[in-house]
Amino acid sequence: MADSLAIAVLAAGKGTRMRSKLPKVLHKLSGLTLVENVIASTKLVKPTRKLAIVGYEAQQVKAALAAMDDIEFVEQTEQLGTGHAVQQVIPALAGFEGNLLVLNGDVPLLRPETIENMLKTHCENNNAATILTAQMDDPTGYGRVFCDESLIVQEIIEHRDCTPAQRENARINAGIYCFNWAALMEILPHLKADNDQSEYYLTDVIKDLSPVMAMDAPPSEIAGINNRKQLSEAEDVMQARIKDELLLSGVTLINAASITIDSTVTVEPDVIIEPQTNLRGAAVIKAGCRIGPGALIENSLIGENTNVVHSVVSDSEIEAGGRVGPFAHIRGKAEIGENCRIGNFVEIKKSKIGKGTNAAHLSYLGDAELGEQVNVGAGTITANYDGRNKHKSVLGDRTKTGANTTLVAPITIGADVTIAAGSTLTRDVEPDCLAVTRVPQKTYPGWRPKYLRAESGAEGGANTSEK
Ligand code: UD1
Ligand code: CA
Repeated sequence: MADSLAIAVLAAGKGTRMRSKLPKVLHKLSGLTLVENVIASTKLVKPTRKLAIVGYEAQQVKAALAAMDDIEFVEQTEQLGTGHAVQQVIPALAGFEGNLLVLNGDVPLLRPETIENMLKTHCENNNAATILTAQMDDPTGYGRVFCDESLIVQEIIEHRDCTPAQRENARINAGIYCFNWAALMEILPHLKADNDQSEYYLTDVIKDLSPVMAMDAPPSEIAGINNRKQLSEAEDVMQARIKDELLLSGVTLINAASITIDSTVTVEPDVIIEPQTNLRGAAVIKAGCRIGPGALIENSLIGENTNVVHSVVSDSEIEAGGRVGPFAHIRGKAEIGENCRIGNFVEIKKSKIGKGTNAAHLSYLGDAELGEQVNVGAGTITANYDGRNKHKSVLGDRTKTGANTTLVAPITIGADVTIAAGSTLTRDVEPDCLAVTRVPQKTYPGWRPKYLRAESGAEGGANTSEK
């Protein structure tokens, strides 16, 4: 493909039928916005220019795409139709030679291979335009494509402008077009808005271009999203695709229907994913892990052979051999070393935990740095927040905190320290010490009230009255 390629993604519409404050193209499908999905579908054809036409809530759409630094934004201040939208790229493409691939921002299920084939067909046949089409069981709402047996297109008529007979045509326009830019430029500036909606339809250029070829794609790929029902259906299609790919690559999914996995997630072979598990964002699950049941893993790295049961892990890293949960919450850039055990009702936030360290029950570790083989006793809490600032707690290797230890940060506890159960530490502890802050125990004999003693008779042991 010697010709250079530009893409223009139509993303200026409001998407009224979504009934949402969020612009339609920013609704998410399997972890990426609709418009990001559309852009991702062009990755095999390697466009030299990428233009996004924005209008409704333009700032929000631009911000959502800010991470892609090769996108050029073109503003369509008034949304006067898809043809008007593409007219807005004319100044930006002055002097451009090659092909322009136009994609609707609300058609997110296209496979990169389909776009690649379309461009190939376009170039090999020297077409003025090539359009992606599909034969739909229910073509309601879509523009109908009229062509002969050899798929040479005469025109596209919008559903609302079709006669009842024309509506019988099941071949629909997907909203994905490849144009020879020079040919398009002869027609595009002269569009008229003489239709039911008084909009400038991009589809109107087709009848004046020749040759235009249709290329059928699977209906599942070209579904446009106009309302939340279609969004939900598209999610099902995308999830099935993601899961099929993982299953064939060697990942076990138990009760796949109850699991959701974003398209941005990486799962290595020989991982077992149990029911009710959700993997989101930039999550990476390394080989040999068992994740779930009931896990939510978000933007986190889970090292080899780690088990995570009924727990939430976000924006964090767990190294190999971890055992997490049930009911652990690891978040905020926590880094858990190899072979750690993070058990029931343990929350770890923005902390670094050395290898072989255990926090098995009922703890909060925030802004902490724990060495290797530390044993965090049940109920250990870092008091890291003074109401204004967060402070750090440091615990050395092999240190053991007793049950119900409170560490008032900032505090540094050396290596090989033992902290007695129930202690509240406010000062640093040198290595190899025992630290105790307990109130000495007092025991008062004969504590039961006199009337109870009278009721149960003479002396009465501990178990003489009902509990
Ligand atoms: C369009 C096609 C229709 C096709 C369908 C496929 C036209 C006239 N019709 O209809 O033939 O079957 O897509 O899904 O093109 N947009 C702008 N600026 C505007 C108007 C729209 O950027 O002024 C953007 C929208 O944000 C959206 C895309 O263009 O991403 C399509 O617009 P939409 O109104 O959804 O077109 P459809 O009625 O679905
Ligand atoms: Ca649409």
